Amino acid sequence: MSVWPVSLRSADRPVRDRYRHLGRLAKRCVLACALALSSGAAHADAAVAHTVPNPAPAHPDLSWVLDEFGGRPGLVALMDDFMKILLDDPRMRPHFENADQQRVKDMLAEQFCVILGGDCVYTGLDMVAAHNGLEVTHADFNILVEDLQLTMERRGIPTRAQNQLLAVLAPMHREVINR
Ligand code: HEM
Repeated sequence: MSVWPVSLRSADRPVRDRYRHLGRLAKRCVLACALALSSGAAHADAAVAHTVPNPAPAHPDLSWVLDEFGGRPGLVALMDDFMKILLDDPRMRPHFENADQQRVKDMLAEQFCVILGGDCVYTGLDMVAAHNGLEVTHADFNILVEDLQLTMERRGIPTRAQNQLLAVLAPMHREVINR
């Protein structure tokens, strides 16, 4: 049995033979590395695809808007009126009559409170999950906003505060509209 390390024992073989296995190794590495990189990229893609926008992005600079709404109690009262207006509106009633209306009101009050920089926590679903399967159209979105404006108007919320809230809700149409 030889006591020489393999590398020394191979020294008596022709140079081309000695390094042939390195060529094979390199070829395997190219394939393996390409697979590793592409599966890494696939995982990165999957991570991006599964990231849904934050349903309640906080805007601490908008706390003055929350004050105009009467803080969290004001939002709770706003949602009571909003749900009544939605159910009175024949275009919206079919969407909300069979929903858990108390939950929707509670979640909306939490969500708006967080968005307007309040000291609240939003415990509801993200906007994609919340509206999944509801077949919400662009027209539905506009009607809901119209009803929200009517609710705010009736509660005497100043126009500037109304517009600030609507401006931060507007980008959510991407997650809410699904038809
Ligand atoms: C910016 C616009 C909107 C916001 C911020 C919003 C927000 C929410 C929130 C927070 C919930 C409760 C999620 C939960 O249960 O955890 C919800 C549920 C719901 N939303 Fe919206 N929504 C919007 C637009 C719309 C529109 C346009 C419609 C359709 C007309 C709609 C229909 C519903 C219905 C039916 C539910 C209850 C779903 C259920 O009971 O499973 N929403 N929404």
